[in-house]
Amino acid sequence: MQLLRWRRDVRHFAPDAVPEQDMHELLTCAALAPSVGNSQPWRFVRLRSVTVRDALVAHVDEQNALAAERYQGQERYETYRKLKLHGLREAPELLAVFCDEKPEAGHGLGIATMPEALRYSCVTAIHTLWLTARLRGIGVGWVSILDPAAVRAMLDVPADWSLIALLCIGFPQDEFDTPELERQGWQLREPLLDRVFER
Ligand SMILES: Cc1cc2nc3c(=O)[nH]c(=O)nc-3n(C[C@H](O)[C@H](O)[C@H](O)COP(=O)(O)O)c2cc1C
Repeated sequence: MQLLRWRRDVRHFAPDAVPEQDMHELLTCAALAPSVGNSQPWRFVRLRSVTVRDALVAHVDEQNALAAERYQGQERYETYRKLKLHGLREAPELLAVFCDEKPEAGHGLGIATMPEALRYSCVTAIHTLWLTARLRGIGVGWVSILDPAAVRAMLDVPADWSLIALLCIGFPQDEFDTPELERQGWQLREPLLDRVFER
């Protein structure tokens, strides 16, 4: 419970590199996640190229500016503009997680009527990686303010791979037990009971 309460999405990173052994453990643990038909559809791309990182930063900044326009004229506009919504510049490690939509493993089990189960499997891997990272004091930030097709093209991945997440990984500058969006006045956590139903 303590780990889950303290996990946090991190956008402010210290400059310290993540030891290679930790990165190896994060990926190893992620790959222990459950997956439909045991298909293990996750594909991890570790970003090494400075040029591609720069292109990703420019792309996400551009998408973020477009997203901000949606709030223009609203009270939220200024709050949105002040939010830090990615640590792509600072994070020592960037990891793109893709889903292989046609994996050989699993032989199609469980995806005839629900192909999206492949993508859900990738999300379980991401959450496993996230918790594994936090156990080691490493922070993870999920970036989704992007055009998946543009990021796929930048990373030059096979046509059957769809983008699930772009993750920033590194040591957090600070630790918090409340979400940044809560602290910045964007969105409070709401009562669980409002989200539990019975039929
Ligand atoms: C699918 C997904 C996409 C997200 N995309 C972004 C993002 O683009 N930028 C960002 O700052 N946070 C992003 N987040 C993090 C959420 O804002 C964060 O999880 C939420 O505010 C709760 O905070 P906490 O994770 O610290 O508990 C994303 C989280 C998820 C699960």
